[in-house]
Amino acid sequence: MNNNKNMDTAFFGQPRGLSTLFFTEMWERFSYYGMRAILLFYMYYAVTEGGLGMNQTTAASVMSIYGSLVYLSSVVGGWLSDRVWGPRRTVFIGGVLIMLGHIVLAVPFGAVALYVSIALIVAGTGLLKPNVSDMVGGLYSDNDHRRDAGFSLFVFGINLGSAIAPILVPWASDGFGMKLFGNTTNFHAGFGLAAVGMFFGLLQYYFGGKKYLSNESLLPTDPISKEDKKSITKKVVLALILVAILLVIMALIGQLNVDNIVNLLTILAIALPIYYFVVMLRSKKVTKTEKSRATAYIPLFIAAAIFWGIEESGSVVLALFAQERTVLHLGNWHFEAANFQTLNPVFIMILTPFFVWLWENWKKQPSSPKKFAAGLVFAGLSYAWMAIPGILFGTSGRVSPFWLVGSWFIVEIAEMLISPIGLSITTKLAPKAYQSQMMSMWFLADAAGQAVNAQIVKYYSSATEIPYFLAVGVVSIIFGVILLAMSKKIFKLMDGVE
Ligand code: PHE
Ligand code: ALA
Repeated sequence: MNNNKNMDTAFFGQPRGLSTLFFTEMWERFSYYGMRAILLFYMYYAVTEGGLGMNQTTAASVMSIYGSLVYLSSVVGGWLSDRVWGPRRTVFIGGVLIMLGHIVLAVPFGAVALYVSIALIVAGTGLLKPNVSDMVGGLYSDNDHRRDAGFSLFVFGINLGSAIAPILVPWASDGFGMKLFGNTTNFHAGFGLAAVGMFFGLLQYYFGGKKYLSNESLLPTDPISKEDKKSITKKVVLALILVAILLVIMALIGQLNVDNIVNLLTILAIALPIYYFVVMLRSKKVTKTEKSRATAYIPLFIAAAIFWGIEESGSVVLALFAQERTVLHLGNWHFEAANFQTLNPVFIMILTPFFVWLWENWKKQPSSPKKFAAGLVFAGLSYAWMAIPGILFGTSGRVSPFWLVGSWFIVEIAEMLISPIGLSITTKLAPKAYQSQMMSMWFLADAAGQAVNAQIVKYYSSATEIPYFLAVGVVSIIFGVILLAMSKKIFKLMDGVE
């Protein structure tokens, strides 16, 4: 069964293994975005309301740096799969860690549980997410024309899980509409449901994987040799010791606190992609043409980081706006601030068919850099749009939910222009010797954007929302215009890559 890569059409015309990977990632995203939908509120709600009573600004900052780390860790996950465990085991181990991470929050152990859970889910997602996507590619032989459609279906799974969770998880934390927990929110019940979701994902991954995933996926592609092992172990131990020393020094001078750790991690998330670019551009293994292409990728990377910064702020800044500034009912239909998180994936599912049609039928369509430029303009507009309600009605009352709906609609147009195109251009612009590292770059763009968010969200509050939305929105639009002006040059540097 595993060898007829070309014959198997059991899952919507795609190989049966795609179904296994589709549902694994669907449940993983269900657990992740379900947890994210309520986590912000869990952190800053007062203890009497079922929360941890953290400072709201710190909570927003932690949300962002957490989002950053979850994708930063994909670098380690990719490496462990390539060199130690092979993708299939790596994904399974990741899924187990993620499930444990949600279970830790499902029990009422307070702030310690929060940080343990973050560590588990950062590690687990780093192991799972890059490798489950990688295995999708592995289902097809090089010339299989179903590859792109397979990836689209996979992305649909991501969004399906991401769309259902922000409805079901907050509903669980509210006692399934039955007032099980009186008038307080029981966030632990919500986190428990996230854990159950990941459990379903693991179950079907385990049994489906045995039947439908290849045995090759059990092997690392580039296993480490004994000598490598020694030198790598040395480096890792050395790095851990340095981190430990840094933390001890910070503790000794009384600077070991959440804010400073967030600052350090921000620096890491921005320095890592810079390091990768420098290594690639100086490497002897990279040809001249490949260097030109990697150079073209730099402005696109920056654009992607700005875009993801705005897109990912939906679960932080827009979530705060939903909670504090939005009327939470339409007539008799009441909903929760957390439910708004469903809008992002729902709009993706609605807009995708239209954009697929557009790219198939638009004869003289713009180059990828131009699409990126347009994406940045739309991302900026989604923010500028959010300044309007405050300007019109002041920033102390509540406004119609349609403002948020509109903002998400606009930012999802941007996502259509950047996310699928960025993913495919990343693989095409990758130097041969750095193929899998370049894939991590795509995750690092999101990580860098959220690392910047971790700093700037500190300036967001109802009182500052107008200048905040305008400033960030205008920065994105300006970068869009600059990118448009540079697009011809970038296209040339891409040297034949479409
Ligand atoms: N919403 C995307 C997802 O969950 C966010 C993302 C973008 C993650 C790029 C990784 C890389 O898949
Ligand atoms: N917007 C999220 C992602 O890109 C759901 O998949």
